[in-house]
Order: sequence, then C-alpha cells, then structure tokens
Amino acid sequence: MTKNALVTGASRGIGRAIARRLAADGAVVAVHHGGNEVAAKETVALIEDAGGRAFAVSARFGEAGAVDRLADAVAEAFGDGGLDVLVNNAGIGSHSTLGEVTEEELDRLLTVNVKTPMLLVQRLVPMLNDGGRVVTVGSMASRIAVQSQIAYTVSKAAVEALAPTLANELGRRGITVNTVAPGPIRTDLTEPLLAIPEAAAGLTAMTALGRIGEPEDVADVVGFLAGPGGRWITGRTLDVSGGTYLGPIA
Ligand SMILES: NC(=O)c1ccc[n+]([C@@H]2O[C@H](COP(=O)([O-])OP(=O)(O)OC[C@H]3O[C@@H](n4cnc5c(N)ncnc54)[C@H](OP(=O)(O)O)[C@@H]3O)[C@@H](O)[C@H]2O)c1
Repeated sequence: MTKNALVTGASRGIGRAIARRLAADGAVVAVHHGGNEVAAKETVALIEDAGGRAFAVSARFGEAGAVDRLADAVAEAFGDGGLDVLVNNAGIGSHSTLGEVTEEELDRLLTVNVKTPMLLVQRLVPMLNDGGRVVTVGSMASRIAVQSQIAYTVSKAAVEALAPTLANELGRRGITVNTVAPGPIRTDLTEPLLAIPEAAAGLTAMTALGRIGEPEDVADVVGFLAGPGGRWITGRTLDVSGGTYLGPIA
C-alpha cells in the first residue's frame, strides 16, 4: 500500500535527500518549505523525474498560523489516506556564544527547532496511521560542547526529548518515534563553515570515517527507520555522524 509522508524543510539539504529517499521507497511525499518555493519545486521535480510522487507545501515556521496551514494542507492532500511518515527536519542554526546570544535569537531558534515541530506533531498525531513513523532530525551537537553553538545545542537537546514520551504514547499502535542526530553534513547550513579549509579539515579529522557527511548519509538512516526494518527501534536517538568525537584517532 502506498505510504503518505511529510518531510519538513524538504526544499534543500538533508530534508531534500530524505524526501527523495522516501519517494524512492514508494511514498507520496509532501515537500514542505519555509518560503523557498523554487527549491521545493526542484525537489518535487527530482522526485517526479525518478518516477516518484510529491507535491510542495509552504509554511514559514514562526509566522502566525504556520502549524495550522501546514497541517491543514497535509490533511487536505492525503484525506482519508492519513499520514504514515512524519519527518521533522526543518531547522535553523546559530553561531552565538552564551555572551552573544540575544533573547530574540533564542526565541527564533526555539520556535523553529522546538515549538513548531512539537505543535505540528500535536496536530498530526490524530492523522497518523497505525504502524506509522515519526522521525525528528536532531543533532550530534546536543552531546558535545561547542561554545559558539550553545543556543542551537539547547534547541536540539529539547527536540530530542520528544521521542521517548511520544514513543510510549504511540507504541501500542505500532508507531515508532525516533531522533537521528547527524554530525556535520554538507548543506547550505554548513556551507560558510566548510568553505574555510581549516574548519573543514578539522571537522573531517574528528570523524572516525574521515570525511564530512552528505545529506544522503542521513536520508538513508531515516529511510531505514521509516521502513519495515525500523519497526523495533523506538524512543531513541541514533547518532548519524560517521563517528564524530569518539576519542583520539591514532
Ligand atoms: N547540516 C548539518 O551539518 C546538520 C547537522 C546536524 C543537524 N542538522 C539539522 O538538519 C536539519 C536540516 O538541516 P540542513 O543542513 O539540511 O539545512 P538547510 O540546508 O539550511 O535547509 C533548511 C531547510 O529548513 C527549512 N527552513 C528553515 N527555516 C525555516 C522556517 N522558519 N520555516 C520553515 N522552514 C524552514 C528550509 O526551507 P527554505 O528552503 O524554504 O528556506 C530548508 O528546507 C536541521 O534541523 C538542522 O539543524 C544539520
């Protein structure tokens, strides 16, 4: 049976790769974006060119009514078919230290990275079919200390906390809820940092596997969790970082 999926922030980066992977696995994918309609249409075109099915939906997290707009659009598109896979991927970064971060920046981070995904889950849970999947894209950053990412780290640690409780709430319906925690992945978000050769070399040197991650490295894990093979993993955070900061590399 065809599955219905929503991937937030699927216009670019990791979300696009997840949308493509789920579509390749046979899902009809709602490709959400926050305003970059051109990029979202590109994702849809890439999926359709590969023989898949997808459509774009827009909602700017942080704007009044965004959760309702997105949930209503998804409900209307999928109708009685309901939703099988929800991927909370849309997110923003931060490069402020504790001394630099402003209340406005913290509000924005928590709104986009935590509050909106949680309210979206609240709205969409009634639409989730038995045996469904919820996957949130957290970050490996929530388990390490990076002075210039303290606010981002706090937001990702918060959103990771969704999975265990939600997994218990939905488990009896066969619905699994997990977080994937990527390390550095080559996307628009990290482009400015990775453009600095020393930074890219430093991040590479910290991974056991010896390279910067690509969006597909994360998408394949989300695809696994969303598929039948992921049925016995729930309430957990999966590190998807190529073994970043495991310890000294000889
Ligand atoms: N890249 C990494 O190294 C890395 C590592 C760990 C975790 N992550 C997490 O992975 C997720 C995706 O990151 P990425 O690197 O793929 O980012 P990206 O390339 O910057 O893409 C971000 C996506 O989120 C959407 N988005 C951003 N702000 C939004 C808003 N206010 N409302 C609605 N949508 C919004 C964007 O939509 P538009 O195109 O419309 O702007 C875009 O689709 C994020 O949660 C990020 O924290 C990334």
